[in-house]
Amino acid sequence: MNQSPKLDAFDTHTRIPRVGTGVGRAHGKIILFGEHAVVYGAPAIAFPVHVLPVIANASIISGESYIESELYKGPAGLAPDRLAPVNAAIDAALDAAAPGLGARVSIYSDIPHERGLGSSAAVSSAIILAITRAAGMELTHEERFNLTQTAERVAHGRPSGMDAHAVNADSVIEFQKPFVDALAVGAPFHFIIADSGVKGSTRQAVESVRRLRETKPELATSHINELGDIARRAAGYFASGDAQSMGRAMWRAHKLLREIGVSSRELDNLVSAARRAGALGAKLTGGGIGGCIVALAASWDDANRVHRSLLQAGAKNAWVTSLEPTK
Ligand code: MEV
Repeated sequence: MNQSPKLDAFDTHTRIPRVGTGVGRAHGKIILFGEHAVVYGAPAIAFPVHVLPVIANASIISGESYIESELYKGPAGLAPDRLAPVNAAIDAALDAAAPGLGARVSIYSDIPHERGLGSSAAVSSAIILAITRAAGMELTHEERFNLTQTAERVAHGRPSGMDAHAVNADSVIEFQKPFVDALAVGAPFHFIIADSGVKGSTRQAVESVRRLRETKPELATSHINELGDIARRAAGYFASGDAQSMGRAMWRAHKLLREIGVSSRELDNLVSAARRAGALGAKLTGGGIGGCIVALAASWDDANRVHRSLLQAGAKNAWVTSLEPTK
């Protein structure tokens, strides 16, 4: 860290913690290509989902940290196990910005949990921003990423870093460890996200792919390589505005992900429903096994039609989100 946050957190004379508050924001993400393959060094492509925001408010306090959220309200030390990543984010931010102090944190999130939409990374990232700002510290992108990864390791074991980048990205990004680049977008792209309503565990999905690499190394390697190749090509489809090729690549990526065992009956049903509704492409997104699919439509009107069809086909929730061309 290149600032002196420890001094900023206290009044210089009284040594009493400053009562400043901080606000942190992040948003959901869609991994369009390269999930799972990115864990093994392949590129992946993701975009922000601004219609699914997370906001955290924080103030620095002298006692034990306190959490207010939809899932739990009370002292951080008594929070249920599923909030361990939230506690890890609070601790990481306090260690960096206000060691020895606590934080009162309130969290508001529109991102459904455990659906492959980046909920854990977005919540952690917003908390980290809120606490460090409350302590008078402005993080660089790299510092924010590193602190978010600390919490993500508690949530998922060994995260690639894709989610921690994507939940703060303003545009489409390509990530290949450790590099992240913004991609050019040559034409509008209209995506539909549909939630199967079934929880997915990224940790469990990543572990099942790791096991497949041991039991069926040839299949796992060829599929992971092809998923990486698709992600590489998709950067070109974005740049040229080629939605048809993008869609074809999505069908193919879903088939490959299904064959490495990270789809589910509900996800396959939604992908089939998107095909019947005239989507250009559809695939599962994120860790899989449960969670969401992402579909691509040729126009805004088509996207709304696909959206309705996915809800009729059993999706618990669905959103339309468009990417505008970059300059
Ligand atoms: C989870 O959103 C994406 C995975 O590729 C895991 C990771 O990148 O750490 C499945």
